[in-house]
Amino acid sequence: MADAAEELLQLTAKLLKSIATKDWATYQELCDPSLTAFEPEAKGQLVVGLDFHRWYFNLAGNPGHHLTTMSAPKVRLMGDVAVVAYVRLNQRVSADGTPVTTAVEETRIWQRQDGRWKHVHFHRSPVP
Ligand code: GLY
Repeated sequence: MADAAEELLQLTAKLLKSIATKDWATYQELCDPSLTAFEPEAKGQLVVGLDFHRWYFNLAGNPGHHLTTMSAPKVRLMGDVAVVAYVRLNQRVSADGTPVTTAVEETRIWQRQDGRWKHVHFHRSPVP
């Protein structure tokens, strides 16, 4: 169980890195095609599938100097399903050179499919 929890933390870190670096191939590889999501960008709508997310990966621009941190992550294993919850800290440099940190709450659900963990749902909210 400790091994599975560690694997899920590593997979989630890999997923976050793929988002930060616009690495679509890795994001797609980690996600189930029917991924569902609530995130602020969707304005209260449940997003189904990957097209909505791919649009952001295709935006022009270099991510620049940045750091993504999963703060105090917790993993809950329930057989072939797992919940990974944490606060994501994003550090970046604004256009005028000022360091900026943002924080969001994230819950990500993974399902073991044919022996491999796939990301099947997430919910992101701003930290109040
Ligand atoms: N918006 C993509 C993700 O957070 O997984």
